[in-house]
Amino acid sequence: MKIPLQLIPTLRKETPGTACVTHLNNAGASLMPTPVYEAVKAYQEHELTRGGYEAAADHEAELNATYDSVARLIGAERDEIAIVENATFAWHQAFHSYPWKKGDNIVTSHTEYATNFISFLQVKKRFGIEVKVAMRGDSGAADPQQIRKLIDGKTRMIVLTHIPTNNGLVNPAEEIGDIAEEAGVMYLLDACQSVGQYPVDVKAVKCDLLSATGRKYLRAPRGTGFLYVKKSVLQTLEPMFLDLHGAEWSAANTYEVRADARRFENWETNKALTLGLKAAAEYAINIGPKGIWERIVYLGGMLREKLINEIEGVSIEDIGATQGGIVTFTIKNQPCERVKEYLQERKINVSVSHRSSTRLDMEARHLEGVMRASVHYYNNEEDLEKLTKALKAFTSS
Ligand SMILES: Cc1ncc(COP(=O)(O)O)c(C=O)c1O
Repeated sequence: MKIPLQLIPTLRKETPGTACVTHLNNAGASLMPTPVYEAVKAYQEHELTRGGYEAAADHEAELNATYDSVARLIGAERDEIAIVENATFAWHQAFHSYPWKKGDNIVTSHTEYATNFISFLQVKKRFGIEVKVAMRGDSGAADPQQIRKLIDGKTRMIVLTHIPTNNGLVNPAEEIGDIAEEAGVMYLLDACQSVGQYPVDVKAVKCDLLSATGRKYLRAPRGTGFLYVKKSVLQTLEPMFLDLHGAEWSAANTYEVRADARRFENWETNKALTLGLKAAAEYAINIGPKGIWERIVYLGGMLREKLINEIEGVSIEDIGATQGGIVTFTIKNQPCERVKEYLQERKINVSVSHRSSTRLDMEARHLEGVMRASVHYYNNEEDLEKLTKALKAFTSS
């Protein structure tokens, strides 16, 4: 359902940061809403006077309910969720749990995030696997048919970044899910930039594994993330790193890996932040993921248009048929870092995405770096106006 326009001022009031900065760095980390901050603060205060282990015992039911909230957000079941500290750990736990063997191959796209690709190269070096990168489609997004063409009898995993770090584009994760299912190949989706922005439903995507972070579009505190592992593949994957929470040392020479997705977690976690993640998932569910996406698309489109119409020398660098809230652009003869600094001095938060974060895509498009202004549903037209006004002043100075 659409977010009613009259709700936006309330949502901004619940986001105290909007009174202090023009925040257009939601792809970096969103501003937290008050309920998220309050959940973290209340727990931390309890811990201060009660003791760490004792506070966790007092909040056991609430902490456990985090799995329900996160699962509900993405259409999963509670036993399919592992709560970890960031998307990278979630992704690593999933990817490296596969028993890679020489001759195996993975099929991926040109929009992959640096950390993921480094892991591909590492596993290639270690085990002799092959990394197959599908050609981009006409729109610039990953092309399901090109991915299909690369799959053969030795393909063990399809790995896709849903929404890349350096672009507004949304890769066709659902269509690629159909191909993965048809081919019987495991499918790992990096949903770091999509959860909280795009209405992700693991049943619709048909992914086996999904990694996500808390701090970006989900608006949870920094240092939170989660991994989804489909029940039917759970028993086939043993985490690379297992501690006494993920497994039980059942006899002197044996251990039993736990049955649910929590086998991918660490025993020690930040309980206050876990409750922050729970509050953030519930906050997003209450507003409605479809409405969130609709408003983000609207604001993203409006910003692209304003930049084209009002800023001299600007090039919009977003590609793909479906575009969301990550608006990327360059300004002729202006180094991105200088633009960012200028905006920062005026309390306008944006970021720069460098070539090394998404090398294949950036090299193909001859880009060293792009400005990244990422909108969220709590942004408003005034925020976009402030950005374009500042950029106008910058380019004419
Ligand atoms: C597409 C993508 N994947 C993974 C990550 C890593 O996320 P985290 O920093 O939470 O580990 C990022 C971070 O920017 C990202 O944009």
